[in-house]
Amino acid sequence: MIRVVSRINDWRKLRRSGEFEHRSLGFVPTMGNLHAGHLSLIERCCAENELSVISIFVNPTQFDQQTDLEAYPRTLHDDLRMAEEAGVDYVLDPAFSELYPDEYRYKVTESPLSREFCGAHRPGHFDGVLTVVLKLLLLVRPTRTYMGEKDYQQFLLIRDMVEAFFLETEIIPCPIVRDTDGLALSSRNRNLSPEERKLASQFPALLKSPGTAKETAERLRKAGFEVDYVEDFDGRRLAAVRIGQTRLIDNIDVP
Ligand code: PAF
Repeated sequence: MIRVVSRINDWRKLRRSGEFEHRSLGFVPTMGNLHAGHLSLIERCCAENELSVISIFVNPTQFDQQTDLEAYPRTLHDDLRMAEEAGVDYVLDPAFSELYPDEYRYKVTESPLSREFCGAHRPGHFDGVLTVVLKLLLLVRPTRTYMGEKDYQQFLLIRDMVEAFFLETEIIPCPIVRDTDGLALSSRNRNLSPEERKLASQFPALLKSPGTAKETAERLRKAGFEVDYVEDFDGRRLAAVRIGQTRLIDNIDVP
Protein backbone atom coordinates (compact mmCIF):
# COMPACT_ATOMS: atom_id res chain seq x y z
CA MET A 1 0.00 0.00 0.00
CA ILE A 2 1.15 3.54 -0.83
CA ARG A 3 2.38 5.65 2.09
CA VAL A 4 2.16 9.44 2.06
CA VAL A 5 4.81 11.21 4.14
CA SER A 6 4.43 14.95 4.76
CA ARG A 7 6.89 15.48 7.62
CA ILE A 8 10.57 15.56 6.73
CA ASN A 9 11.55 14.11 10.11
CA ASP A 10 9.20 11.16 9.59
CA TRP A 11 10.72 10.53 6.21
CA ARG A 12 14.29 10.72 7.55
CA LYS A 13 13.46 8.19 10.27
CA LEU A 14 11.83 5.89 7.74
CA ARG A 15 14.71 6.24 5.30
CA ARG A 16 17.17 5.11 8.00
CA SER A 17 15.03 2.06 8.79
CA GLY A 18 15.86 -1.49 7.71
CA GLU A 19 13.19 -1.39 5.01
CA PHE A 20 15.51 0.49 2.64
CA GLU A 21 18.66 -1.47 3.39
CA HIS A 22 20.16 -3.29 0.41
CA ARG A 23 17.20 -2.39 -1.82
CA SER A 24 17.33 -0.21 -4.91
CA LEU A 25 15.25 2.95 -4.64
CA GLY A 26 13.85 4.81 -7.64
CA PHE A 27 12.72 8.44 -7.42
CA VAL A 28 10.55 10.70 -9.58
CA PRO A 29 10.38 14.35 -8.45
CA THR A 30 7.11 16.02 -9.56
CA MET A 31 4.94 19.05 -8.92
CA GLY A 32 1.85 16.83 -9.10
CA ASN A 33 -1.02 17.09 -11.57
CA LEU A 34 0.20 13.75 -12.88
CA HIS A 35 -0.46 12.86 -16.52
CA ALA A 36 0.69 10.16 -18.93
CA GLY A 37 4.09 11.85 -19.24
CA HIS A 38 4.73 11.49 -15.48
CA LEU A 39 3.28 7.99 -15.57
CA SER A 40 5.85 6.84 -18.12
CA LEU A 41 8.62 7.91 -15.68
CA ILE A 42 6.83 6.44 -12.67
CA GLU A 43 6.15 3.10 -14.34
CA ARG A 44 9.78 2.80 -15.40
CA CYS A 45 10.89 3.79 -11.91
CA CYS A 46 8.70 1.07 -10.37
CA ALA A 47 9.84 -1.56 -12.90
CA GLU A 48 13.57 -0.90 -12.45
CA ASN A 49 13.75 -0.55 -8.66
CA GLU A 50 12.75 -2.59 -5.62
CA LEU A 51 11.21 0.46 -3.95
CA SER A 52 9.87 3.65 -5.49
CA VAL A 53 9.16 7.14 -4.21
CA ILE A 54 7.71 10.20 -5.90
CA SER A 55 7.58 13.72 -4.51
CA ILE A 56 4.62 16.02 -5.05
CA PHE A 57 5.59 19.58 -4.26
CA VAL A 58 4.65 22.73 -6.18
CA ASN A 59 7.92 24.54 -5.59
CA PRO A 60 7.31 28.30 -5.16
CA THR A 61 10.99 29.21 -5.51
CA GLN A 62 11.06 28.20 -9.18
CA PHE A 63 8.14 30.43 -10.20
CA ASP A 64 9.12 33.92 -11.28
CA GLN A 65 5.46 35.02 -11.48
CA GLN A 66 2.99 34.75 -8.61
CA THR A 67 0.09 34.39 -11.08
CA ASP A 68 1.80 31.38 -12.69
CA LEU A 69 2.28 29.75 -9.28
CA GLU A 70 -1.37 30.35 -8.39
CA ALA A 71 -2.59 28.97 -11.73
CA TYR A 72 -0.52 25.79 -11.41
CA PRO A 73 -3.05 22.92 -11.28
CA ARG A 74 -3.22 21.02 -7.98
CA THR A 75 -4.90 17.61 -8.06
CA LEU A 76 -3.48 15.73 -5.07
CA HIS A 77 -6.36 13.29 -4.68
CA ASP A 78 -6.14 12.07 -8.30
CA ASP A 79 -2.33 12.10 -8.15
CA LEU A 80 -2.30 9.73 -5.18
CA ARG A 81 -4.73 7.37 -6.89
CA MET A 82 -2.61 7.30 -10.05
CA ALA A 83 0.60 6.80 -8.08
CA GLU A 84 -0.94 3.92 -6.12
CA GLU A 85 -2.24 2.25 -9.29
CA ALA A 86 1.22 2.55 -10.84
CA GLY A 87 2.74 0.74 -7.85
CA VAL A 88 4.53 3.63 -6.08
CA ASP A 89 5.54 2.77 -2.50
CA TYR A 90 6.01 6.26 -1.04
CA VAL A 91 4.83 9.78 -1.79
CA LEU A 92 6.66 12.70 -0.26
CA ASP A 93 4.22 15.57 0.05
CA PRO A 94 5.87 18.21 2.26
CA ALA A 95 4.71 21.75 3.02
CA PHE A 96 6.98 24.68 2.13
CA SER A 97 8.04 25.15 5.77
CA GLU A 98 9.13 21.50 5.94
CA LEU A 99 11.29 21.61 2.83
CA TYR A 100 12.55 25.17 3.35
CA PRO A 101 13.26 25.56 7.09
CA ASP A 102 15.87 28.12 5.97
CA GLU A 103 13.15 30.08 4.09
CA TYR A 104 15.35 29.89 0.98
CA ARG A 105 18.37 31.62 2.52
CA TYR A 106 20.51 28.98 0.81
CA LYS A 107 20.32 28.24 -2.89
CA VAL A 108 22.13 26.47 -5.68
CA THR A 109 23.19 28.69 -8.56
CA GLU A 110 24.67 27.41 -11.79
CA SER A 111 26.15 29.46 -14.57
CA PRO A 112 26.25 29.91 -17.49
CA LEU A 113 23.65 27.35 -18.71
CA SER A 114 20.97 28.30 -16.17
CA ARG A 115 21.01 31.88 -17.52
CA GLU A 116 20.27 30.75 -21.09
CA PHE A 117 17.07 29.74 -22.86
CA CYS A 118 14.32 29.28 -20.21
CA GLY A 119 16.59 30.88 -17.61
CA ALA A 120 16.86 34.07 -19.67
CA HIS A 121 13.07 34.43 -19.65
CA ARG A 122 12.39 33.22 -16.10
CA PRO A 123 14.88 34.90 -13.75
CA GLY A 124 15.80 32.68 -10.80
CA HIS A 125 13.83 29.72 -12.16
CA PHE A 126 16.71 27.26 -12.24
CA ASP A 127 18.06 28.39 -8.84
CA GLY A 128 14.70 27.27 -7.45
CA VAL A 129 14.67 24.02 -9.42
CA LEU A 130 18.25 23.05 -8.51
CA THR A 131 17.80 23.98 -4.86
CA VAL A 132 14.64 21.93 -4.39
CA VAL A 133 16.02 18.97 -6.34
CA LEU A 134 19.23 19.00 -4.28
CA LYS A 135 17.16 19.01 -1.07
CA LEU A 136 15.01 16.14 -2.35
CA LEU A 137 17.98 14.07 -3.52
CA LEU A 138 19.71 14.47 -0.16
CA LEU A 139 16.54 13.38 1.63
CA VAL A 140 15.54 10.51 -0.65
CA ARG A 141 19.04 9.22 -1.48
CA PRO A 142 17.71 7.33 -4.50
CA THR A 143 19.64 4.75 -6.53
CA ARG A 144 18.07 6.15 -9.69
CA THR A 145 16.27 9.41 -10.47
CA TYR A 146 13.99 9.69 -13.48
CA MET A 147 13.75 13.02 -15.37
CA GLY A 148 11.63 13.83 -18.43
CA GLU A 149 13.39 15.11 -21.54
CA LYS A 150 10.65 17.65 -22.23
CA ASP A 151 12.42 19.90 -19.75
CA TYR A 152 15.71 19.25 -21.50
CA GLN A 153 17.61 22.19 -20.02
CA GLN A 154 16.41 21.16 -16.56
CA PHE A 155 17.57 17.59 -17.18
CA LEU A 156 21.07 18.80 -18.23
CA LEU A 157 21.38 21.10 -15.21
CA ILE A 158 20.30 18.40 -12.74
CA ARG A 159 22.52 15.76 -14.35
CA ASP A 160 25.53 18.09 -14.08
CA MET A 161 24.65 19.18 -10.52
CA VAL A 162 24.63 15.52 -9.44
CA GLU A 163 28.13 15.16 -10.87
CA ALA A 164 29.35 18.47 -9.41
CA PHE A 165 28.23 17.61 -5.86
CA PHE A 166 29.19 13.90 -6.00
CA LEU A 167 25.62 12.78 -5.39
CA GLU A 168 25.19 9.04 -5.55
CA THR A 169 22.22 8.73 -7.85
CA GLU A 170 21.97 7.84 -11.51
CA ILE A 171 19.99 10.40 -13.52
CA ILE A 172 17.88 8.59 -16.11
CA PRO A 173 16.48 10.73 -18.96
CA CYS A 174 13.07 9.59 -20.22
CA PRO A 175 11.63 10.42 -23.67
CA ILE A 176 8.91 13.03 -24.18
CA VAL A 177 5.36 11.67 -24.19
CA ARG A 178 3.10 13.36 -26.74
CA ASP A 179 -0.63 13.72 -27.28
CA THR A 180 -2.16 12.20 -30.43
CA ASP A 181 -1.57 15.47 -32.33
CA GLY A 182 2.09 15.62 -31.23
CA LEU A 183 1.82 18.24 -28.47
CA ALA A 184 4.18 17.32 -25.60
CA LEU A 185 2.17 16.45 -22.49
CA SER A 186 2.41 19.11 -19.80
CA SER A 187 0.39 20.12 -16.75
CA ARG A 188 0.15 23.56 -18.35
CA ASN A 189 -1.85 22.19 -21.32
CA ARG A 190 -4.84 22.15 -18.96
CA ASN A 191 -4.78 25.93 -18.83
CA LEU A 192 -5.33 26.27 -22.61
CA SER A 193 -8.79 27.25 -23.91
CA PRO A 194 -10.10 25.03 -26.78
CA GLU A 195 -8.96 27.67 -29.28
CA GLU A 196 -5.51 27.98 -27.70
CA ARG A 197 -5.22 24.19 -27.62
CA LYS A 198 -5.88 24.14 -31.38
CA LEU A 199 -3.02 26.58 -31.98
CA ALA A 200 -0.78 24.63 -29.57
CA SER A 201 -1.10 21.55 -31.75
CA GLN A 202 0.92 23.36 -34.46
CA PHE A 203 3.88 23.86 -32.10
CA PRO A 204 5.57 20.43 -32.49
CA ALA A 205 5.01 20.32 -36.27
CA LEU A 206 6.48 23.80 -36.78
CA LEU A 207 9.40 22.96 -34.50
CA LYS A 208 10.18 19.92 -36.69
CA SER A 209 9.91 21.84 -39.98
CA PRO A 210 13.21 22.13 -41.87
CA GLY A 211 15.36 25.27 -41.66
CA THR A 212 17.39 27.18 -39.13
CA ALA A 213 16.29 27.95 -35.57
CA LYS A 214 15.73 31.56 -36.64
CA GLU A 215 13.46 30.48 -39.52
CA THR A 216 11.51 28.21 -37.19
CA ALA A 217 11.03 31.10 -34.73
CA GLU A 218 9.70 33.24 -37.57
CA ARG A 219 7.25 30.52 -38.68
CA LEU A 220 5.99 30.15 -35.11
CA ARG A 221 5.47 33.92 -34.82
CA LYS A 222 3.55 33.97 -38.13
CA ALA A 223 1.30 31.13 -36.88
CA GLY A 224 0.33 33.25 -33.84
CA PHE A 225 2.74 32.17 -31.08
CA GLU A 226 4.68 34.59 -28.94
CA VAL A 227 8.19 33.15 -29.14
CA ASP A 228 10.51 33.25 -26.09
CA TYR A 229 13.30 31.44 -27.94
CA VAL A 230 14.19 28.77 -30.48
CA GLU A 231 17.83 27.66 -30.13
CA ASP A 232 19.98 24.70 -31.09
CA PHE A 233 21.96 23.26 -28.18
CA ASP A 234 23.48 19.89 -27.31
CA GLY A 235 22.14 18.24 -30.49
CA ARG A 236 18.61 19.48 -29.80
CA ARG A 237 16.41 22.29 -30.99
CA LEU A 238 14.91 23.82 -27.84
CA ALA A 239 11.92 26.14 -27.94
CA ALA A 240 9.56 28.01 -25.63
CA VAL A 241 6.43 29.80 -26.79
CA ARG A 242 3.52 31.56 -25.17
CA ILE A 243 -0.15 31.34 -26.03
CA GLY A 244 -2.04 33.89 -23.95
CA GLN A 245 -1.02 33.27 -20.32
CA THR A 246 0.31 29.77 -20.99
CA ARG A 247 3.97 29.00 -21.66
CA LEU A 248 4.84 25.81 -23.54
CA ILE A 249 8.26 24.23 -24.07
CA ASP A 250 9.40 21.44 -26.35
CA ASN A 251 12.54 20.09 -27.99
CA ILE A 252 13.50 17.75 -30.80
CA ASP A 253 16.69 16.07 -32.01
CA VAL A 254 18.55 18.04 -34.67
CA PRO A 255 20.80 16.14 -37.09
O1 PAF B 1 9.92 19.29 -13.60
C1 PAF B 1 9.31 19.54 -12.53
O2 PAF B 1 8.17 19.12 -12.33
C2 PAF B 1 9.99 20.39 -11.47
O3 PAF B 1 10.81 21.36 -12.03
C3 PAF B 1 10.78 19.54 -10.44
C4 PAF B 1 11.94 18.80 -11.08
C5 PAF B 1 9.84 18.55 -9.77
C6 PAF B 1 11.35 20.46 -9.35
O4 PAF B 1 10.35 21.16 -8.68
